[in-house]
Amino acid sequence: DNKKAVKDADIIILAVKPQNFPETLKEIRLVATPSKLFISIAAGVTTDCIEKALSKTPRVLRAMPNVAALAGEGAAAVARGHFARKDDVQYALAILNAVGLAVEVDEKLMDAVTGLSGSGPAYCFLIIEALTDAGVQLGLTRDLAEKLAAQTMLGSARLCLTSKQHPAQLKNMVTSPGGTTAAGLKVLEEGKIRATLMAAVEAAAKRAKELAG
Ligand SMILES: NC(=O)c1ccc[n+]([C@@H]2O[C@H](COP(=O)([O-])OP(=O)(O)OC[C@H]3O[C@@H](n4cnc5c(N)ncnc54)[C@H](OP(=O)(O)O)[C@@H]3O)[C@@H](O)[C@H]2O)c1
Repeated sequence: DNKKAVKDADIIILAVKPQNFPETLKEIRLVATPSKLFISIAAGVTTDCIEKALSKTPRVLRAMPNVAALAGEGAAAVARGHFARKDDVQYALAILNAVGLAVEVDEKLMDAVTGLSGSGPAYCFLIIEALTDAGVQLGLTRDLAEKLAAQTMLGSARLCLTSKQHPAQLKNMVTSPGGTTAAGLKVLEEGKIRATLMAAVEAAAKRAKELAG
């Protein structure tokens, strides 16, 4: 019973699919008083749209989490609606920080966040899958190849976050002249991996904007 759930709560996380938002907001409209904080995680649904669907001056925040929250390593951004207070953002950041990293952004940057970290785990899964296939092709068992690929991604990401060094510096640190890594990197550059990743994030951000209408 959504109405009762909202009545009984101080903070409500709106986590239904975007297409179910209109019916759900209609259901809770009359109990959505300004004493309550609404945090939406729906992709492409603006705070403006939620505020208009709820009554009077609702405190609304919009968050874009990602699936890595399931492993406690999520990356999320939070944007404030017109009536949400500064400490509302702190509540949302505290909730999302419990399952990874959370930052505040201006809502106009939400499509960029969606294209980068919202959709990002799928890009990383695809890369892990491809590295695994490459390992298998070279004779590693699938299980071992997948472990090595995933741990390499995880370890590199952790080093990036903890070392405070630019990713290019870290890359240069492990690239000896005429060595194995230089040979691999040359192939990646020939395949235009940078431009491809940039185009992927741009396409996802564009799609997020389209879905928001
Ligand atoms: N998955 C992600 O990584 C991710 C990342 C960022 C944002 N999001 C956003 O998170 C939201 C949920 O996505 P999801 O992938 O987790 O989808 P999901 O697994 O299908 O979850 C949707 C949930 O909403 C419930 N629900 C549907 N209609 C409802 C209604 N009228 N009243 C109350 N509950 C209702 C569903 O319950 P039943 O199963 O019982 O129908 C289900 O538990 C979406 O808005 C999505 O844009 C997801």
